[in-house]
Amino acid sequence: MTPEQWSAFLEVHKDLPREGPGAPEDVHWALGRIGMSGAVDVFDAGCATGGDTVTLAQALPEARIRAVDTTEPFVAHAQARLAPFGDRVRVELGSMAEPGGTYDLIWCAGALYFLGVTEGLTLWRDALKPGGHVAFSEPVALGPLSTDATAFWEEYPQITDLAGIEARVSAAGYRVLDHRMIVGAPWLAYYDPMQARIDHLHTINTDPAVTEAMGACQREIDLWHAAKDEIAYALLIVAPE
Ligand SMILES: C[S@@+](CC[C@H](N)C(=O)[O-])C[C@H]1O[C@@H](n2cnc3c(N)ncnc32)[C@H](O)[C@@H]1O
Repeated sequence: MTPEQWSAFLEVHKDLPREGPGAPEDVHWALGRIGMSGAVDVFDAGCATGGDTVTLAQALPEARIRAVDTTEPFVAHAQARLAPFGDRVRVELGSMAEPGGTYDLIWCAGALYFLGVTEGLTLWRDALKPGGHVAFSEPVALGPLSTDATAFWEEYPQITDLAGIEARVSAAGYRVLDHRMIVGAPWLAYYDPMQARIDHLHTINTDPAVTEAMGACQREIDLWHAAKDEIAYALLIVAPE
């Protein structure tokens, strides 16, 4: 992306409550499945605007949480949202490749593919406390992809099925504790606010670069609606062997 395209992308994406599919229930499921409570340390890797960071902070009232993202406007938004939780929740501009501590849980919704599943998990091994877990969500093919679903994932050629993700986990020396699929409503938590933002921009925007970014986002939303039953993220809970 050129700087102009990136700025136009942010014009559409800024201030969205989340930057990928997911719901508070996904966080609660993972915490329950791990049995996590008390004064634990949590790293939210690629937190964007902090949608899941808020849920983590609410669900774990004694936890110390560090959340990072490399996109400055997202971090500023997340910092404002997380301010009511005080010093125990830190949101910083930074890379998830540098966790900066050790954690009981590394939460990573829809961002691990920036590092690569095997590469990221390998990197995070030293950032996990004994008994620690990583919970991450990753695009997954539920079966053979239709034309619309293939077009939806065209910028993610490394898409694979659940067994393919598990093989990437295994290659990092981790085991899968459990998984669940994110399909349907949690995608609307991402796309409904984006659609509202596009609809609003149609009434005020005059910048051709933003018009192009709006068109690309609208195409993504339309393709999702056309193939929503076969477009999924897998949320996996994993731990070092
Ligand atoms: C698809 S979004 C998901 C964000 C968030 N977890 C959510 O569910 O709303 C991926 C995020 O990863 C961030 N990102 C990409 N590479 C990163 C890196 N190396 N370190 C931290 N964040 C990164 C992007 O800026 C973006 O906000």
